Amino acid sequence: MANVTVIGAQWGDEGKGKIVDWLASRADVVVRFQGGHNAGHTLVVGDQTYKLSLLPSGIVRGTLSVIGNGVVLDPWHFRDEVAKLAGQGITITPDNLHIAENAPLILPFHRDLDGLREAAAGAGKIGTTGRGIGPAYEDKVGRRAIRVCDLAHLDDLDAQLDRICAHHDALRAGFNQPPIDRQRLLNDLAEIAEVILPYAKPVWVTLNQAKKRGDRVLFEGAQGVLLDVDHGTYPFVTSSNTIAGTASGGSGLGPSSVGFVLGIVKAYTTRVGSGPFPTEQENDVGQRLGERGHEFGTVTGRKRRCGWFDAVLVRQSAAVSGITGIALTKLDVLDGFETLKICTGYRIGDKVYDYLPPHAADQARAEPIYEEMPGWQETTAGARSWADLPAQAIKYVRRIEELIQCPVALVSTSPEREDTILVRDPFSD
Ligand code: GDP
Ligand code: IMO
Ligand code: MG
Repeated sequence: MANVTVIGAQWGDEGKGKIVDWLASRADVVVRFQGGHNAGHTLVVGDQTYKLSLLPSGIVRGTLSVIGNGVVLDPWHFRDEVAKLAGQGITITPDNLHIAENAPLILPFHRDLDGLREAAAGAGKIGTTGRGIGPAYEDKVGRRAIRVCDLAHLDDLDAQLDRICAHHDALRAGFNQPPIDRQRLLNDLAEIAEVILPYAKPVWVTLNQAKKRGDRVLFEGAQGVLLDVDHGTYPFVTSSNTIAGTASGGSGLGPSSVGFVLGIVKAYTTRVGSGPFPTEQENDVGQRLGERGHEFGTVTGRKRRCGWFDAVLVRQSAAVSGITGIALTKLDVLDGFETLKICTGYRIGDKVYDYLPPHAADQARAEPIYEEMPGWQETTAGARSWADLPAQAIKYVRRIEELIQCPVALVSTSPEREDTILVRDPFSD
């Protein structure tokens, strides 16, 4: 297996950015294949912290980076993120970054609609990142999207604009909003086209050439399996498939190229936004996890909800996404807890479940069944070898492997790139 596909196995923010950056030293190309700038991937290299939302994390090492067709691309955000990284000394050019010509665009009215719907939903809101992700994917599957390749044909866009504007103007009218200003949109698109088009490529060609050369491809998932539009805690999910199989359709490489599926798993659980969270701890445990783990959203700055490790959910994620092995992150955040709890099942009404059933009301009522383990008082922060871990921490990791029925390939013990324990190399597996 020459390739590796990294995905989040919980509700996002598991530490995908750190692990992708670590693996990118051995990859020839890094590919984003779904989501958009709702992602927030953090890389810490020495005294520099990089936060990437749309760009593949491989770009920080200068590795060839690809934004696949499965991503929804906000072109103005793209321009700003490139500029922000340039300010941190990262050079991004059409030589090291390719954008799929067939990727759909996030336009200003998508963001408007996202915000209007959330405001109207009140307490029932999803808690989206407000970046227009859902509305942009709706237009893609509704066959109304304006895509990257359309930026080279703005004179020929009338029929498409008729369709997308008719759709959105009707929705906007329902929210008492003025219709889309078409001329302004066209002017803005003409301006941003000059920024985007140099990067626009048939990335399926780039990737298939890489495959023929035997290059190593590293796919970088965004969000997590529990936010997957099919397999997640619907409707409190994102609007794309976040499972590993999407790497194929979202990039233009066949399914056999997905390779080793590395699920990124936080040693406890967090969630940002609304929706069920059976092991949530709205008490001093949750507060301690949040403080030690600095659990604030990378994109929105929102406080993340925190709770105990949920082995039921991760086992389910590993199964539906075909995870080969996991990277267990933020183990150091658990240092100093007297007792640790792991969820091994749910009680819903008078029934016991070993999986999370799909109905939102059942999910909201699920009461976790816990087993307890003693914690460890030593520090694991910065550990770089298995031998540096205290015995109880090793027991915790081994118990997680047993419960989720999946082996550990990597353990991460701090935000820093090099504070990573390699147990089993995903690239040479
Ligand atoms: P992503 O969205 O999956 O890439 O994760 P985020 O970057 O949104 O959130 C993960 C946070 O945890 C970031 O601030 C990382 O720097 C940090 N982090 C990653 N791995 C570790 C770790 O092993 N220990 C600690 N303490 N922090 C980590
Ligand atoms: P990374 O890649 C955590 C959540 C939002 C909201 C739901 C829908 O950094 O792990 P959306 O804006 O996608 O329509 O919001 O999904 N969400 C994330 N939560 N990490 C992310 O990305 C997320 N991307 C979206 O908070 O609950
Ligand atoms: Mg994140």
